[in-house]
Amino acid sequence: MRKNMIAGNWKMNTTLSEGLALAKGLNEALKGKTLQCEVVIGTPFIHLASIAAAIDTDKIGVAAQNCADKEKGAYTGEVSAAMIASTGAKYVILGHSERRQYYHETAGTLKTKVNLALAKGLTPIFCIGEVLEEREEGRHFEVVDEQIKASLFDLSADDFSQVVIAYEPVWAIGTGKTATADQAQEIHAHIRQTLAARYGAAIAGDTTILYGGSMNAENAKDLVAKADVDGGLIGGASLSVEKFLPIIEAF
Ligand code: PGA
Repeated sequence: MRKNMIAGNWKMNTTLSEGLALAKGLNEALKGKTLQCEVVIGTPFIHLASIAAAIDTDKIGVAAQNCADKEKGAYTGEVSAAMIASTGAKYVILGHSERRQYYHETAGTLKTKVNLALAKGLTPIFCIGEVLEEREEGRHFEVVDEQIKASLFDLSADDFSQVVIAYEPVWAIGTGKTATADQAQEIHAHIRQTLAARYGAAIAGDTTILYGGSMNAENAKDLVAKADVDGGLIGGASLSVEKFLPIIEAF
């Protein structure tokens, strides 16, 4: 079902005690508030269980930032979708551009990860987005279509309906250079058309599509006001309650 959502992506930040304090601070700040969006925090793996136990997970969903592309077994250092689900986390961010770029995650690997996450009842927050050169060459529509098709389009309609998409232009991530609200709307509408061509207008209309890339308290209102922008995936500004809360309240 399409919903408004603001999701934080803490990346490789915060020790366990810092992360717990941040999550508890957010939990406290949201207490008694009626929210117009779902709130999710994407924490490091080792924080998941402690944070899920320390906050109201009906109000703040907990997400991992990755999962293994294998179900279980002799894969030293990996964390499976089942392990993530066992902590109380309900979401997993997959295909973030930093994973694609620095850890060479391919469309095929990501397809496997999406399947495993869904099989364990996790909601994938699946990231797509073009690099600057691709935008300058006018290939951004083509690039996101390819990323979606290669990793998601073998899913059944039922499975696809569980997926949240996050459009994150790589040139906007951590750079302070946000896409304009019009640029975001243009490509979100395009993404929805691509989804409609595969799964039909009803499912495409029900899909939650987030924007990510230097979203903050100043630009959030304009972005989420756009018809096809259902919320945001927030990096830097999710690392303090003071910066994250106004984004949640942008709806
Ligand atoms: P940013 O990161 O908000 O710091 O640009 C967004 C993301 O990478 O998800």
